[in-house]
Amino acid sequence: MTEQRNFLRNIWYYALPGRQLKPGQLFAKQLLGEPIVFGRTHAGEVFALRDICPHRAVPLSCGRFDGTAIECAYHGWRFDETGQCTLIPALNDNQDLDLSKFQVRRYPACESQGNVWIYMSEQERGEVIPKYPVPVVAGFEDAVYQSTYTMKFPCFIDHAVVGLMDPAHVPFVHRAWWWRSDAILTAEIKAFDPSPYGFTMRRHRLERQTFFYRLLGGDADVEIAFQLPGVRVEQIITNTNRVANLTVITPISETETEVTTMFYTTIGWFKPLLPILQPFITTFLGQDRDMVVKQQIGLKYDPPLMLIRDADTQAKWYYQLRSEFTKADAENREFVNPVKSQILSWRS
Ligand code: FES
Ligand SMILES: [Fe+2]
Repeated sequence: MTEQRNFLRNIWYYALPGRQLKPGQLFAKQLLGEPIVFGRTHAGEVFALRDICPHRAVPLSCGRFDGTAIECAYHGWRFDETGQCTLIPALNDNQDLDLSKFQVRRYPACESQGNVWIYMSEQERGEVIPKYPVPVVAGFEDAVYQSTYTMKFPCFIDHAVVGLMDPAHVPFVHRAWWWRSDAILTAEIKAFDPSPYGFTMRRHRLERQTFFYRLLGGDADVEIAFQLPGVRVEQIITNTNRVANLTVITPISETETEVTTMFYTTIGWFKPLLPILQPFITTFLGQDRDMVVKQQIGLKYDPPLMLIRDADTQAKWYYQLRSEFTKADAENREFVNPVKSQILSWRS
């Protein structure tokens, strides 16, 4: 399989933590190879526009924002949060120009559970209506994450996603005293079901109820859901608590991808743990990134890649989901989930 580097369109991508955007502020960020400027109005609304002035291409993020309108730094054209041009200062009073033709591309953006999401549409003009809502971490509908951490991976999105759902690398890549001290593999048997735009590892009781899980309340169940374009939610549910780890993958360009991992918990004593937890999260993600860096050495030669049964079935599903999403979109029909309920077994 030779690599195809196209991004999924008409789908929500995680963009940035909501806290990064204060009212009256702009924040420029490239996503899917496109320059985007995010902003938050004084009223608290989040918006996203193409970060290029339609006049002479100066980034709008270089301009001034008063919490209502952006004023371009070059000739002072003003745009509201919908991207509509509202003022061209160089015009005389008697020169009436139809400003409605001057419109910056607007992307649907929204804030959910502490995060800003952007709908990267195919359609460039006019109002875009997203086909479905933003992914949600169940059980924390009105909550904000308790910790968030982002790391850049020097690869195309697919390699970061496949790495995320690859059970077989764990004993080799994440070999550490606090996680896995050796490479003794154990047999795993897990049931999977299709779920919206992805699949879910069916909820099951954790076999190794270690000290940590007893601390969380005991009888820990786990459930892991994946959905396009690169959203993974792992839920740990105990007798008294719930911990959710949301990992989201966002392409910056064809060669750069951001991986963000967040925790939502009902645990009162989670916050003070963070300074202790943070280095572990960094190490863990860093191990994945280091492997991606090594993988890039080989990928330069565009070799065919192999996917084996069971251990790589989730990766296969990802590619199937991705291609069905693209096809359904192109044919303007409902997405039909290609995943069927299945038991997978592997050693890890
Ligand atoms: S380039 Fe933006 S106003 Fe001229
Ligand atoms: Fe990993």
